[in-house]
Amino acid sequence: MQAYCGDDAVAVERRIDGLLKQLTLEEKTGLTRGGFLDGGLWLAPGLAARGIPPLHLIDGPRGVSAIAGNATAFPVGMARGATFDPELEQRIGERIGLETRAVGGSVILAPTMNVLRHPRWGRSQETYGEDPFHLGAMATAFVAGAQRHVLATAKHYAANSIEDTRVTVDVTVDERTLREVYLPHFRRVVREGQVGSVMTAYNSVNGAFCSQSPHLVREILKGEWEFAGFAVSDWLWGMHDTVAAAHAGLDLEMPVESVYGASLRAAVEAGEVDEATVDEMVRRLLRPRFCRRLDVDPPVPDPAALETAEAYALAQEVAERSMVLLANPAGLLPLDRAALAAIVVTGPLADVENLGDTGSSNVAPTSVVTALAGIAAAAGPVVVTHLPAPPASTEDQAAIAAADAVVVVVGLTSRDEGEGQIGAGDRNSLALPEGQAQWILDVAALSDRVVVVVEGGGALTMDDFLGQVEAVLLAWYPGVRGGAALARVLFGEVNPSGRLPLSFPRADADLPPFDNAAPSVTYGYFHGYRHLDHEGIAPLFPFGFGLAYTGYARANLRLEGATLRAGDVLRATVDVTNTGSRAGRETVQLYVGAVASTVTPRSVRELRGFAQVELQPGETKPVTLEVPVDDLAFYDAAAGGFRVAPGTYLVEVGSSSRDLPLAAEVTVAP
Ligand code: BGC
Repeated sequence: MQAYCGDDAVAVERRIDGLLKQLTLEEKTGLTRGGFLDGGLWLAPGLAARGIPPLHLIDGPRGVSAIAGNATAFPVGMARGATFDPELEQRIGERIGLETRAVGGSVILAPTMNVLRHPRWGRSQETYGEDPFHLGAMATAFVAGAQRHVLATAKHYAANSIEDTRVTVDVTVDERTLREVYLPHFRRVVREGQVGSVMTAYNSVNGAFCSQSPHLVREILKGEWEFAGFAVSDWLWGMHDTVAAAHAGLDLEMPVESVYGASLRAAVEAGEVDEATVDEMVRRLLRPRFCRRLDVDPPVPDPAALETAEAYALAQEVAERSMVLLANPAGLLPLDRAALAAIVVTGPLADVENLGDTGSSNVAPTSVVTALAGIAAAAGPVVVTHLPAPPASTEDQAAIAAADAVVVVVGLTSRDEGEGQIGAGDRNSLALPEGQAQWILDVAALSDRVVVVVEGGGALTMDDFLGQVEAVLLAWYPGVRGGAALARVLFGEVNPSGRLPLSFPRADADLPPFDNAAPSVTYGYFHGYRHLDHEGIAPLFPFGFGLAYTGYARANLRLEGATLRAGDVLRATVDVTNTGSRAGRETVQLYVGAVASTVTPRSVRELRGFAQVELQPGETKPVTLEVPVDDLAFYDAAAGGFRVAPGTYLVEVGSSSRDLPLAAEVTVAP
């Protein structure tokens, strides 16, 4: 059992043993269902007379939810995924954990860590990207930070990646795909991250709702992975059958009693559920309360700890680190204040506080720096003119034609993508919302100094305007200080280092089909870059891609040991050089593919390691990446376990899934 109590573990379990002997069945079952809201927080009631404190749960992945009041809105998860920096993500987790405690919360309902199977998913913005290895690294880092202050909740377990039908859709997925694509990151956040709770998804998998899937919850999560925390349902529509959920191992129903509670008591009294099963639920629900000492040291609201200068500075730092420079062929960026007289800022999102979805992840900060405000504040002597509509008048057209640079801010908002039921749901296409491409083209017809800033939480197609503009910068939903961060990137105080944590296709049809209306869907083995590689389709921008205001070169790939065995660690070292004239941060990516594999299907390559290096102009540094050979295992469904197939593997190192200039083979011996 992976306990997370440290030295107190034995004493805590004994205390729970004692309580289980005293509690009545009614008291026990009362602990297994929510008590709705308490002061803007979701309540899992305690039992004051028994010395059992309540749990207060609150969303979410980009900061403390608006239902609890004002808090710092950080860049969304997808933006943070683009930093490829788990250490930075740990600091975000820690800050969100601290703000959670500061509103009286003991559980943060984050991270969202579902595989982005398709970027039309309405909650794309909340997760970290499409790759399970990268997702596992980022989510585990978030949890390590958050759990310094509160419990974290890994969600939504599992295979949740459609919004419009989220509460009904059945996902058919074979065991190997489930284990290799949809679960490895959850495993990591449980085993390595010791996450305190896991939220089951609304959808069903292979015919069983996740909240009542013995395979997902009892066998895999609690059995194989030895999860010591509690499994909580997703809200309102997550549970359907008391007996099935109890047998499957679901511990807590939220936010109110609709299945558990009275009916769980009745099911025990009728002999349909053993009292021992309820005892196990209660044990898992009490463990975090006592491990976290919530009885003697409950979170006390502390408004002074919310929206601090440090939190806003961190939000800005992450936004700066997350922005991805997608195109800059003529080197228009960075803008040089000394050489500019006038900038025009236009586009539908130029002056919009664009923080992301207004569903459960909604955060309400007291102030937001928009793109326009950020650019205006940082422009110094440069005259900034805002044109709030496409250039129709001769005056506006003249302003654009005369400007030294035109920044067009376009993209998605909470009207375009978000949570099902309470938000915009899935997108219908990967194109920019109607009229935006035309706005860009109207500007591009008047100027050859056009920078397009794209906001949003997922991939967009861009062939309709890409060739007509001089630069494209992806800013995501950049949080409270997004505009300030954007200005620092545009003016070159920050050298862009964000990398795409998802593939940008040329056309919707280049990705696997996404049917957000069907009652059931089948998830195949390939999605994202693995699909594009397998099908031989060129992406618009590949997974891992991002430009900088400098260049990087990689050379001298050396692998330690040519022959490895299961249990060994593959060590690859590469020299990285900054070939440009600005200091920068490069992300070195390592992919591994099985050569002539007898296991089918198999990805051409999969991300197995990444690391960052900061380099001064002209500087070279060695970077070493380590890959446990066991990470190369495939799931052998017939044998019911992971197994490393002996044979040859190609190790490729570079700057994106499609720019891998260094390669070497290794042999894995039987
Ligand atoms: C969402 C969860 C969220 C919960 C509580 C649900 O609708 O799917 O992610 O944590 O609501 O707000």
